[in-house]
Amino acid sequence: MADPTTTDPRAGTAVLVAVAWPYASGSRHLGHLAGAYLPADVYARHQRLVGNRVLMVSGSDVHGTPITVRADAEGVTPVDIVDRYHAEFVADWDRLGISWDLYTSTGTENHAAVTQDLFLRLLENGHIDRRSSEQYFDPEADRFLPDRYIEGTCPHCDYAEARGDQCEDCGRTLDPEDLVDPRSKITGSIPELRATEHFYLRLSDFTEPLGEWLDSREGWRRHVLNFSKGWVEEGLQDRAITRDLDWGIELPVDDLGPGKRIYVWFEAVIGYLSAAKEWAQRRGEPEAWRDWWEDPEARAVYFIGKDNIPFHTIIWPGMLIGYGGLNLPTDVPANQYVTFKGGKASASRGVGLTIGEGLDLFQADALRYALAAALPEQSDTDLSVEEIGRRVNEELVATWVNLVNRVLSMVHKTCDGAVPERDGRTGDDEAVLAGVDAALATVTDQVERVELRAALRTGMDAAAEVNAYLNATEPWKLATSDPGRARVVLGTALAAVAGVRVALSPYLPFSTEALDDVFGPVESWERVEPAPGTPVGKPVPLFTKVDLDELLADEAPATDG
Ligand code: MF3
Ligand code: ZN
Repeated sequence: MADPTTTDPRAGTAVLVAVAWPYASGSRHLGHLAGAYLPADVYARHQRLVGNRVLMVSGSDVHGTPITVRADAEGVTPVDIVDRYHAEFVADWDRLGISWDLYTSTGTENHAAVTQDLFLRLLENGHIDRRSSEQYFDPEADRFLPDRYIEGTCPHCDYAEARGDQCEDCGRTLDPEDLVDPRSKITGSIPELRATEHFYLRLSDFTEPLGEWLDSREGWRRHVLNFSKGWVEEGLQDRAITRDLDWGIELPVDDLGPGKRIYVWFEAVIGYLSAAKEWAQRRGEPEAWRDWWEDPEARAVYFIGKDNIPFHTIIWPGMLIGYGGLNLPTDVPANQYVTFKGGKASASRGVGLTIGEGLDLFQADALRYALAAALPEQSDTDLSVEEIGRRVNEELVATWVNLVNRVLSMVHKTCDGAVPERDGRTGDDEAVLAGVDAALATVTDQVERVELRAALRTGMDAAAEVNAYLNATEPWKLATSDPGRARVVLGTALAAVAGVRVALSPYLPFSTEALDDVFGPVESWERVEPAPGTPVGKPVPLFTKVDLDELLADEAPATDG
């Protein structure tokens, strides 16, 4: 793929496309894909084509209790779990065409080193301190227990299996001390409260700068800004950033004693910075990350789901302010949820299709199209296999795929199998092309505002306009009545298709590439007409219609179960 950084290292603005790091604790679902990965990829592809220098990074989040709880449940090691799901994610991204500059993990030495550097600088700057508190200790296991390792009876609803962080029955968040009859999940014994020490991030230090920074944000999604400002107005609480676990990044200072690790949410967000450094290292230009992190002109856009908002709009920016000299997020266009037949597509609740299952049912571009058309940018959206299939058939195939097919096969038949010359275009012909060029400009405005659903609509509307042009000019009739005019119309339609293809290319990378033979690779955000004389063979359809009956029949056992 065209990478402007290799051709002109100074061209365009540096844009960091920072994407949520998925927990390597279970398969990711279509909800995650629509929430972060697909919008990030569409945005990154568009930004590269307009000539910006994109660095798109993420990786697997391999630490924390989601991983250890899963490993314990299966009786395997955390490494087994992490290796399994990291490999699965990498395969998913490949099948989906997610155009990472680097997809790594938080399990690297580099990430540990960058995390420890941040920790030490914040400690030196007085933004981290040590505090003592009372915490449950399992005398049999001889260790302190993190929240998720304590169970007991919910004080609100009497549910007997409530966890130390939350009651799954009534949904209330809890502190371990709230539980009635607490017991250790590890040994079942009764835990006792003992004094222990942890490091705390003094988030309250940043109340003022964060409040001012949030007030100065322009063009952010309203739900993201409101939520974040609300958090700051409530008063920022200092947060423990170490945990009693032996799975996680080690502290760079050893004064807490054994069995303490850095809390996953403190280090995972540092991945955006450590991944940029790893990318630069691998490229043999170890200082190159600075263009995205230190240049005040650079932009950093974070693609996340709404459950991650405070970590990206408050805690991570606070850490960056405390560290000093690094860019804060330019925008955090967090998405709402995709609900899949009712329930939230949540990995922890096992609802909805996994990405792999989605790709077994639909071609990658078909899935990308249907999810992009339903992106939960402003509110939760609902999806089902049926809805995906319907959108593919009635929108993608009916409008775009049929247009391409129709134009290519008519050019093949009527214009001697080659792109016709450009002269002889009338005002009507030029107007169609001007419409496509205007659509390209509109898409750019929309993508800059991260209105990716609307931008896709713009591209599809442009395709519909070209269809309308063909219906009005009827080149299939002209082929016999006025062959000269037929060539002009078909040449115009082909030129229009070339432009619509660019507009849709961030959404449909595979089917875009399938047209390279006639149109050449998409390398910039402009309508490039194919050269007259370029051979146009009999087209192979980009997609076939989805057989909805067959799909839904296949799906039946899953919905019964
Ligand atoms: N692992 C977290 C999740 O799946 C997301 C982490 S985003 C990061 O919800 F930036 F913190 F890494
Ligand atoms: Zn409860």
